[in-house]
Amino acid sequence: MTARPSLHTIPHPGLAGGPVYLDYNATTPVDPRVAEAMLPHLTDLFGNPSSSHPYSEQPRAALEQARGQVAALIGARPREVLFTASGSEADLLALRGAVLADDRPRPHVITQATEHPAVLQTCHALQRLHGARVTVLPVDGDGLVEPAALAAALDEDTVLVSVMAANNETGALQPISDLAALAHQHGALLHCDAAQAVGKIGVDVEALGVDLLTVVGHKMYAPKGVGALYIRDGVELEPVVYGGGQERGLRAGTENVALAVALGTAAELAARDLASGEPARLAALRDGLHQRLAHGLPGRVHLNGSAERRLPNTLNVSIDGVLGHDLLTVAPEIAASTGSACHSGTHTPSPVLTAMGLDADHALAAVRLSLGRWSTPTDIDTAATTLIKASIP
Ligand SMILES: Cc1ncc(COP(=O)(O)O)c(C=O)c1O
Repeated sequence: MTARPSLHTIPHPGLAGGPVYLDYNATTPVDPRVAEAMLPHLTDLFGNPSSSHPYSEQPRAALEQARGQVAALIGARPREVLFTASGSEADLLALRGAVLADDRPRPHVITQATEHPAVLQTCHALQRLHGARVTVLPVDGDGLVEPAALAAALDEDTVLVSVMAANNETGALQPISDLAALAHQHGALLHCDAAQAVGKIGVDVEALGVDLLTVVGHKMYAPKGVGALYIRDGVELEPVVYGGGQERGLRAGTENVALAVALGTAAELAARDLASGEPARLAALRDGLHQRLAHGLPGRVHLNGSAERRLPNTLNVSIDGVLGHDLLTVAPEIAASTGSACHSGTHTPSPVLTAMGLDADHALAAVRLSLGRWSTPTDIDTAATTLIKASIP
C-alpha cells in the first residue's frame, strides 16, 4: 500500500493505547494545534468582543480572524459566515430561518431521505408548528438524489431545498450544483448540510451555487459545540436566538470566542491538508482496507453506496453472515460504527441504508469504517486482520 505519511505524524495523545480509531465521521479528536490556539481565549483573553475598552480588542480581532479562516475554506466572504453552537443549530437556523422569513401562506420545503436527523426533524417541526408542507425525495441504490425527482417536486410554494453534501454513513456525494441550479430556476433557496464534506474534500459555495451551508467543528478536528452557517449575501432569515445584536442579529448571545478560534484554526489546517494531498492519502488507506477485507472474506463483502461518488475517508460495507453490532463487539481492537441503531437492546436497520434499498439483513450487517488525520497503514493492517478473523465462523 503506497500511502504518504500524514501531515501530522505525531500520534494523537487521545488515541494512545486505545483501539484503532475508525470513527472519524462520528467525531474527530481535537487537533492539538487547535487546542493550543483556543487556550488563551479560555484564560487571559476573557474580554467581551462587544465591549468598548481594551479588553475587547484581542477577542474581537480573533473572532473576525476566525470568521475569515472559515470563509476562506469554503470560498465565502467573511461577513457571510455566522458562528453557531453546533451543526444541528446551523441546520435549524437555515431551515426554520428561511421558512419563517418567507411570507407564502403554505411554504413548501424539499429534502431527501438520507439527511441527518438535524434536518429531517427540523422539517417535521416546521410541518407541525408552522404549517409547512414537506416533501422527502427518495434516493437510488447509491444513496443519490435524482435531479429529475427534484425538478418534479419543485413548485411555486417551494421556499427551500435542503440536501446534504456528503452522507455521514456512506460518504455518498450528492449532485449539489445540479440541485442548486434547479432550485434557483423555481425561485427556491438551496441549503446544504456540509458537516461531513468540509475539510474532507474541497467545498466552494460559489462552485456549488448554494445559498446556505452548514459547517461542523467536531467533524474537522475542532471541539464539539461549535459550527457555522454560510448565508449568501442577500438571503433573509428569521433569527434562531433573539436578544442582543450579535452575529448580525441572527443568533444572539455573547460570542464564544474560544470555540470560534478553534473552528477558524481547524479550517486553516483543513485547507493545508486539502492542498497537500491528505484526501488521496486517506483514499489509498481506505481502499487498501477494502481490498484486504474482500480478499480475506471472498464474495462476502459488499460496498454500500457508490465507489466513485464518495468521501475519500469512508468505507461502509456489509459482510455476509455477520451482524455489524456483533462483529464490533468481538473486535474490541477497533472503534467503528454499525449500520444499525440500538434502542433498548434491539437493533434496527439504519434508515439511510434502508432508503438505499438494502434489506434488513444487509443493513444490519453493515459496518462504517471512517478514517482521518491520525490513521496509519498500521491501523489499517490491524483493522483488516481483526475484522477478517472476527468474521470467520
Ligand atoms: C451530516 C451531519 N449533519 C449534522 C450533524 C450535527 O452536528 P452537531 O453534532 O454539531 O449538532 C452531524 C453530526 O453528527 C452530521 O453528520
